Amino acid sequence: MMFPEYRPRRLRRNEEIRSMVRETSFGMEHLIYPLFVVPGRDVQNEISAMPGCYQFSVDKLVEEAKGLRDAGIKSVILFGIPEEKDATGSQAWAKSGIVQRAVEALKKEVPGLIVVTDVCLCEYTSHGHCGVLSGKDVENDATLELLAKAALSHARAGADMVAPSDMMDGRVGAIRDILDENGYENIPIMAYSVKYASAFYGPFREAAESAPEFGDRRSYQMDPANKREALREAALDMEEGADILMVKPAMPYLDIIHMLRQEFTLPIAAYHVSGEYAAIKAAAAQGWLDEERVVYESILSIRRAGADIILTYFAKALAKILA
Ligand code: PBG
Repeated sequence: MMFPEYRPRRLRRNEEIRSMVRETSFGMEHLIYPLFVVPGRDVQNEISAMPGCYQFSVDKLVEEAKGLRDAGIKSVILFGIPEEKDATGSQAWAKSGIVQRAVEALKKEVPGLIVVTDVCLCEYTSHGHCGVLSGKDVENDATLELLAKAALSHARAGADMVAPSDMMDGRVGAIRDILDENGYENIPIMAYSVKYASAFYGPFREAAESAPEFGDRRSYQMDPANKREALREAALDMEEGADILMVKPAMPYLDIIHMLRQEFTLPIAAYHVSGEYAAIKAAAAQGWLDEERVVYESILSIRRAGADIILTYFAKALAKILA
C-alpha cells in the first residue's frame, strides 16, 4: 500500500468513521477501584499526595461504596490499616480485623459490588515489610503460612477474590491450598505476579501507612531492569493456581503487559498505581495537562498493551467520563 493510492486519512475524516475503525475500548466492567479502610467511625481523611482519594472508616466506606455502585463502579479492592501493628502482622488474619469487617459490611450493604482484597502484611507489621523478619531479612517460607491465613480470613468474611501483593515465592500455591481445603475452591486468586520495586508506590505508603521502617523492598519485589524474569514469575504463579496475572505499575511497564498478553492465555490485570495517579493530578492542578483526556488516554494505552483489567484510582473519575 503506497501513497497516493492509499491515504490513511480517509478513515480519520470524522468521528463516525473514526469510531467505526477504533481498535481499543474499555468500559466500567474492566476497572477496579482501590479503597483504604481505617478504624473508627465517621472518618474520611483525604490522602495528601492523592487528592480525591480517602481513608474511610467502615461506616463511611459503605456510604461511599453505595455511591460508587450507583455511579457504575463494578469492583473495588480493599486495603486495611489496622488499629495495632506487631512483628508478625497478626491483625491481617484477625476475624474482626479491619478488612474482614469492611468486607462483611460491603457484601451485606452493597450487593452486586465485587469485593477484592489485597493480601499482604506490610500494612500490619510494625516494621512495614511484607513478611516476617529474621534479623533484617524477610523470611520467605515462614511468611507463607501467615499470608494463607490472611487470605482464608478474607474469604470467610465474604471476599469475592483475593489478591496477594507480597511477592514471596510460593504464596499463590499456599493460598490456593488453604482456600481449597476450607471449601473456597471457587474464590479466584488475582496474583500480583510481576510487581516491580517501584518508586511510583510513594503516595500509597502514606495512604496505607506501610512504608518500611528500614531498607526497601528490593529483596522481594522485582528489579525494574528485568523483563525475562517477568515470564518466570508469571509462569510460577500460573502453575501454582493463579486465575489472573497482574503487572504493577502499569504505564512504565507496558512492554511487560504486552509480553504477558502474548505468552499467556490467562486474563491480565495492570495496576495503575498511586504515583501514576499523583503525577497526573499534580500536573492537571497546575493547568499543565488536561486531566480528563490524559486519564482516558492512559487507561486506553494500558488496554492497548494487552490488559483486560485495570486497577486505577481514576475509576471514579472514569465513571463520569464514560457516562
Ligand atoms: C502492598 C501493596 C503496595 C501497593 C499495593 N499493594 C505497596 C508496596 O508494595 O509498597 C502499591 C499500590 C499503589 O502504589 O497504588 N504490598
